[in-house]
Amino acid sequence: MRAWPVLCAVGLACVLVACGGDASDSGGRADSTAAVVENPNAPGVHQVGPNQYEVVIQVSEGSYLPSEIHVPVGAEITFRVRSTDIPHGFLIDGAGVKLSPVPEEYREATHVFDRVGVYNFHCDEYCGGSHELMKGRIIAE
Ligand code: CUA
Repeated sequence: MRAWPVLCAVGLACVLVACGGDASDSGGRADSTAAVVENPNAPGVHQVGPNQYEVVIQVSEGSYLPSEIHVPVGAEITFRVRSTDIPHGFLIDGAGVKLSPVPEEYREATHVFDRVGVYNFHCDEYCGGSHELMKGRIIAE
């Protein structure tokens, strides 16, 4: 966060970085700060506190992005899951986490993995021909 005013003071670097961000945007709102601050909605694992993480998962027909997710044991993990097309399911076996990702908003659930292991997840809401392909795993380590 604090890097932004510093970069702006430099001037030229600020402009170059902001231009790069706009070019890669796929048609949403223009947001010049997104180029320098890590995008909190980018698929993947984001550390948001000393022992807190957010896992952003993009769901679309046939797949989860990412489909293999590494998280630390004992940390507070908030899953933020959103579909890019139609409603899907997101069920983590043995963790009691069940979400119904839709395009309109992020669906969220928080969980702490107490022990090392591999936790499989899959789509548990029928969504068409690719339904059976929709799976992934969480490695708590
Ligand atoms: Cu996606 Cu069933």
